Amino acid sequence: MRIIQITDLHIYPKDEIIDGVNTRNNFIKVLEDIHKINYDLVVLTGDLSITEGDEPIYKWIKQQLNNNNINNHFVIGGNHDDANTLAKVFGKNYYLTDNELYYFVKPNIIFLDTIKGYCSKKQLDWFRQQIIGIKDESPIIFMHHPPFKSGVPHMDKKYAFQQTDEFVEICGLTNNTKYVFTGHYHNEISLMYKNVSMFITPSLYLQIDMFEEDFKTYHTVPAYRIIDIDGSQLKTTVRYVFDK
Ligand SMILES: [Fe+2]
Repeated sequence: MRIIQITDLHIYPKDEIIDGVNTRNNFIKVLEDIHKINYDLVVLTGDLSITEGDEPIYKWIKQQLNNNNINNHFVIGGNHDDANTLAKVFGKNYYLTDNELYYFVKPNIIFLDTIKGYCSKKQLDWFRQQIIGIKDESPIIFMHHPPFKSGVPHMDKKYAFQQTDEFVEICGLTNNTKYVFTGHYHNEISLMYKNVSMFITPSLYLQIDMFEEDFKTYHTVPAYRIIDIDGSQLKTTVRYVFDK
């Protein structure tokens, strides 16, 4: 099974270049790039919109997926999204409650909603039940926020996930490896802690300089992630999409 993860799209309201970047073009470029390979599923892991939940922006994204015949796609929100608007535009199999989008795809893929920077108690309880229920395979978890601080000062200080301890406790309920794929940090980072293997995927928009205390753009080459699952083996790589 091959999954394509695209994250932190930050799509502009219009087809325009801001600070040297056109995020609408970047999304189209990435969709063209993945045309070259076979895949089973496309996952968008949040910050679809440039600043806040926006129905016309979500509809434009959905239209691009439709234009490319990408029917098997799943969407979760980031801190620049709105769960109800996402569900309105993309809603197909979504489990929406407490104004959160979280759902489970058999056999072992879990999607969490961290739009607020944390999960409601109801969502954490649901997550705990899913983890306990997956015995034979390693769970794959998609969430916008990395569950751990990850060494990008601007993000760690201001925008870190607020429930690291709860997350580690739940993942520790079973021994199997939990593979976690996130965005939010606009960097490529891998972090292993106890039985969690976490992979942060760079943004479709811009990458943040991790050597700087405050926000500074490092570069603007968009990227996406390829995840290949073959039995108990998982292989993953990030592909940057350069201008030709
Ligand atoms: Fe974010």
